[in-house]
Amino acid sequence: MSSQPAPQGHVLVVGSANLDLVATTARHPAPGETLIGRDYAEHPGGKGLNQAVAAARAGATTRFVGAVGPDDAGRTLADIATTSGVETSQLLTVDAPTGRALILVADSGENSIVVVPGANDLCPPGIPQAGDVVLAQLEVPLSSVGATLQRAKAVGAVTILNPAPARALPPDLLECVDVIVPNQHELELLGGVASLLDAGVGSVVVTLGADGARIHTRDAAIDIPTLKVDAVDTTGAGDTFCGYLAAGLAAGLSLERAARRGCVAAALSTTRPGAVPSIPNAAEVDGVSASEE
Ligand code: RIB
Repeated sequence: MSSQPAPQGHVLVVGSANLDLVATTARHPAPGETLIGRDYAEHPGGKGLNQAVAAARAGATTRFVGAVGPDDAGRTLADIATTSGVETSQLLTVDAPTGRALILVADSGENSIVVVPGANDLCPPGIPQAGDVVLAQLEVPLSSVGATLQRAKAVGAVTILNPAPARALPPDLLECVDVIVPNQHELELLGGVASLLDAGVGSVVVTLGADGARIHTRDAAIDIPTLKVDAVDTTGAGDTFCGYLAAGLAAGLSLERAARRGCVAAALSTTRPGAVPSIPNAAEVDGVSASEE
């Protein structure tokens, strides 16, 4: 993979920006149980911001559409986006507190997350342009996601939907999705691969955690392997995959090549803590990819 040109192209991400409040514990508590945690940290996160930073670190020219509050957290998140090379003229400051995510990370590296959306509920639709790869998730209003995807199809942009957190989706939204990227839980809630393809989705890319990913089209299913790593924190791994996938497609890679690069990036992201701070840059990803071939 090292011989290919560095990915370029244009990615538009519409989605959430959160301040992640992260506690580490030996294991996840049972309902009604109190555990003593080990460490506490605050990191920039939110599925939208994570995916935008991943696309930018992958090499794409990236615009981010979202909403933060007029508070320190909002300013921190906007600064991180800018210093990561993400264009933020459509990152609005609105009259609501910046979103927060309360995250527990267990020794296994697995996380559990509660998101309090705040300003994310006022995220506007994006304005795609021809040639964009448009990437959205479901931590912002469905109306904004739907309007963005419809506009994207009207101008001939490529659309990717990461249906997280999982929820039922209307048929007219699914018809606008070229590539959907659920995890196994989200796939089940959405009715499975056949149901999504029948609804008009072009391809289904199922993320499988430590097992990589699987691409389903009408004609084929392709397994995408990943690196074996010692995971310390899986937060943001799916977002890293989505951002790299979008950047790869924007650069003209095939879905399979873009997914392979996404799997390597996602695996690397799990080897360090936090969401945005853990996202690798293209040189790191392509260096590892090359040594694996
Ligand atoms: O996907 C990980 C993200 O989910 C975290 O950064 C958190 O903010 C939540 O949105």
